[in-house]
Amino acid sequence: MHDEPSAMSPAQAKAELVHIDGEIARHNRLYHDYDAPEIDDATFDAMRRRFASIAELFPDAAEGLKASKSVGARGTRGFEEVRHARPMLSLANAFTDEDVNGFVHGVRKFLALAVDTPVRIVAEPKMDGLSMSIRYESGLLVRAVTRGNGEVGEDVTANVRGIDDVPQDIRAATTLPVLEVRGEVYMTKANFFALNEALTASGKPVKANPRNTAAGSLRQRDPSVTANRKLNFMAYGWGEVSEFPSRTQTGMLEFLAKAGFKTNPLTVAFDDVALILENHRGISAIRATLPYDIDGVVYKVDSLELQDRLGALSNTPRWAVAHKFDAEEALTVLRDIEVQVGRTGALSPVARLEPVTVGGVVVSNVTLHNEEYIAGVDPDGIPIRAGGDLRVGDTVIVCRAGDVIPKIKDLVLDRRPAGAKPFVFPGKCPVCGSDAVRETNKSGKVDSVRRCSGGITCSAQGIEKLKYFVSRDAFDIDGFGEKQIEYFFSDVELPVREPADIFTLRARNDGSGRPIRTREGFGAASEAKLLDAIDESRDIKLDRFIVALGIRHVGQSTSKTLARHYGSLTSFLHAVSEVATDTKGTAAGEMSALPDIGEAVVGSLAGFFSNLRNVDAVARLAAELRVGDAERPTATQSPVTGLTVVFTGSLARMGRDEAKAMAESLGAKVSGSISAKTDLLVAGPGAGSKLNKAKDLGIETITEDEWFERVSAG
Ligand code: IVH
Repeated sequence: MHDEPSAMSPAQAKAELVHIDGEIARHNRLYHDYDAPEIDDATFDAMRRRFASIAELFPDAAEGLKASKSVGARGTRGFEEVRHARPMLSLANAFTDEDVNGFVHGVRKFLALAVDTPVRIVAEPKMDGLSMSIRYESGLLVRAVTRGNGEVGEDVTANVRGIDDVPQDIRAATTLPVLEVRGEVYMTKANFFALNEALTASGKPVKANPRNTAAGSLRQRDPSVTANRKLNFMAYGWGEVSEFPSRTQTGMLEFLAKAGFKTNPLTVAFDDVALILENHRGISAIRATLPYDIDGVVYKVDSLELQDRLGALSNTPRWAVAHKFDAEEALTVLRDIEVQVGRTGALSPVARLEPVTVGGVVVSNVTLHNEEYIAGVDPDGIPIRAGGDLRVGDTVIVCRAGDVIPKIKDLVLDRRPAGAKPFVFPGKCPVCGSDAVRETNKSGKVDSVRRCSGGITCSAQGIEKLKYFVSRDAFDIDGFGEKQIEYFFSDVELPVREPADIFTLRARNDGSGRPIRTREGFGAASEAKLLDAIDESRDIKLDRFIVALGIRHVGQSTSKTLARHYGSLTSFLHAVSEVATDTKGTAAGEMSALPDIGEAVVGSLAGFFSNLRNVDAVARLAAELRVGDAERPTATQSPVTGLTVVFTGSLARMGRDEAKAMAESLGAKVSGSISAKTDLLVAGPGAGSKLNKAKDLGIETITEDEWFERVSAG
């Protein structure tokens, strides 16, 4: 494969060019579309260079191969390249205690220190994100640049300004002419899970791990997308600095903390290797409980004077090393593939594994996402693992992606048992037997998820919908949760099969049959508590009532919008029944004109309410409840009541979410985009296209200060 191009036959050249072109296309997709690069930039560049060197001698063979010709494929997001004032180095790795001893010994030897001279070493958790260099001039943030290849990175200033942890102004702490703060941009596990939940809810593919997601979020062209992704930043170093505020690593970290940066609270300095190793074991043990991913502990010589003397090799400093954690991977056997049915009818395949410990956690199930994932390709048919499709009986490599969610990394083909058959994904719902179909969306793309078409007639959907109904976001019935749903769902005497059944439990309990208090696990007191809790939840706000129905695409914020607009259950039900039978589209038109309500929501509501079983079930439920009218702002409440407001640019006196909440509390509607319906644009510094569009449409535009004046005038 690595012949000199000049020694190749045209056929060989063609074969290799086609291969490289395919690989480049695949890596481009992994990088740009999935935020999941498998190779680093240098390897990618080498691939492109190899292509170019063959194509130069065999131009005909390169004819028609597109991927490799797209210029600067990795820089296509259009970020400006910036040369680092001081290179961003990488770290050498240590894996064993011996390696760490070797590092400290090497430092001493290099500096020719006596055996009894202590060398103070700082141990910092190694954040698993991506490094960033943020330049301050006279105390003001001027530029943020990614590591790139260490010499040249990408200017992502606009995006980094949206990270709350990154102060824009550190003049209170320092007005040094130049201070480049370096550290890690990362996403917390909690934010990563929340993002994936939201993606799942809107039927989009989930992200692989927090690190790649953070990387992808930073490369967004629209800074508001980055800001919405909730990234964090932790400082651990510096680049160009006009004058050092301290001459130790620990002193510098303290200075950075005073200037308003997060620094890692688990940072400790030691004079003794034994303590360093003990610390590593300790951090390794609590690693899973930290709110962010780490992949080791970095050791740095504390004295900057010694750091300077130690200097660096071509790419790594001699004064630091990364002590990695044990690789979190394990081999096990795929015992079975089970297909479960969720609340929305999605058929989700789950791998049942021979239980195995990966990084201290026993893994026995992992999600397999969808049928293509099992087949080993992504939605575009691009292979996602070397071993190909997964079959029952396969030996698989399990890893904990982002050290949290276990997944199957690959399989060991050599160990495949003879006769193992490709997995056939069911075309029928395994629970109710209805057809399971893959919907095609408007743009003609087939959904990767197959869904049971049985609706509420499918008991799997029924039980999952009920669990959701009683969950925190919905009815939140104290003491009546998933367990109780499972118990009563299959109960013969007091079955709970639909939401209304929960509220008829008390009446039915007093009728014939075995009352709850006589059952195992219950007594008179727990019976009373349960039934009282149910009664208490009969008073419910309209938005929660709508959420609880568990209609696809109709989550908390959509339900709030609907509740606020329609005001009462009666008018909401009136509207949805019109939408469901709407032939002219006027009711649907009114609904989709509401902020953040699109065709997916309207279509989903129409689908739900055109099914008479659903309509009846909702009526039975409503009969048991007192659904409160939504609070609707009255016309006289404030100077902005009834206006549709858009906020853009950066706001100094309030956060984006805060601005939105404030406007809404004053009776305004807040929208994310300018349209003919917008009444008012509040524009902070850096406002771009929205400001222009508002000008074009003649929409009134005010500053943040003017906004405050106006609302306080009311
Ligand atoms: S120091 C010259 N400190 O690890 C030293 N790096 O493998 C360069 N990292 O690119 C970095 N936590 O993205 C340092 N406490 C820490 C770190 C850390 C995470 C990352 C950083 C760097 C990579 C090197």
